[in-house]
Amino acid sequence: MAEKTYPCDKWCDIANAVLCTAWKEVPGDEWRQRIPAVKSAMKEVAAAYKLSTKTGGPKFDTPARRMAYCALHLPSRARWVFDVLRDHEGLFKPLFAEGRTTDVWSIGGGPGSDLLGFFRRHAWWGLGSLKCYNFDREAGWAKCMATLQARVKASGVDASIELVAPSKEATNGIGDPRVILLSYVLSDVFYRDKEVGFRELAESILSKPKPGALVVFLDIARDETRAWSEERLARCGYAKVGGFDFNEKRLTDYQWGRSLGRFDKLLDLGWPHRDRVTFGLWRRMPTQQRKVRTEIGASV
Ligand SMILES: C[S@@+](CC[C@H](N)C(=O)[O-])C[C@H]1O[C@@H](n2cnc3c(N)ncnc32)[C@H](O)[C@@H]1O
Repeated sequence: MAEKTYPCDKWCDIANAVLCTAWKEVPGDEWRQRIPAVKSAMKEVAAAYKLSTKTGGPKFDTPARRMAYCALHLPSRARWVFDVLRDHEGLFKPLFAEGRTTDVWSIGGGPGSDLLGFFRRHAWWGLGSLKCYNFDREAGWAKCMATLQARVKASGVDASIELVAPSKEATNGIGDPRVILLSYVLSDVFYRDKEVGFRELAESILSKPKPGALVVFLDIARDETRAWSEERLARCGYAKVGGFDFNEKRLTDYQWGRSLGRFDKLLDLGWPHRDRVTFGLWRRMPTQQRKVRTEIGASV
């Protein structure tokens, strides 16, 4: 008898396929080299996050660290984006239409966790096709992106993904984003002095969309990064239309276990993932309203 597939299974399997791609990139024999390398990279990644307010978040410049990030965070961060779309469907759905291609941009999208969560909910609506850009400085994510694109297409979502090296000029001539995802990237770069380039990139991207476009901001709950995002988004003409903070948001054992597959045991992950989450949903206002807001702001 054919196995019964629940809708959630398909998306957990896609997450697992991205993990398998990241895993294959780690060189060497599975037991002697890969497992120790990734376990040690998991410690490095966790240690870098602990120090991130001094030194910025981890670098993802080795296959082992990229795999470590996927194992530690991909399934849960995909889920947080899915939850945002599900809970704010009325704001998102009008941005898409059958027969139309809509641009979705992810800043620092890494292995595509945020895009995966996005695709999962978009598939539910089935509204048109998607052209996605992941502006990430780490070219090493390319194979994960290719797997994500292939698996998502095979599951019936008409989406393409391009990994773009971030620069101020990177967005020249590439369309009109209707949704911008900023997921767990600001806290990585915020405390690095040299990341002025990232701030410029974020501002140049945020000033692109037409009114009505939505920005999803998800991150570790920290006052400084939240304040920075709120100030910049307001300055770029966005109004806050949703948001919440969670001290601890958890993935269910099932979602966690199925996404990780055999990596759960191989890497001794052993517990469902939890995250501190701050979330804000922002909508670009019409120019007229932006002016009024600026004038009110200026007079205060
Ligand atoms: C913590 S990961 C977040 C990945 C994904 N958005 C998620 O929610 O899981 C942060 C990503 O930001 C990227 N990144 C760091 N500094 C950057 C910069 N200056 N410009 C673009 N991407 C950057 C890293 O390479 C990494 O892939």
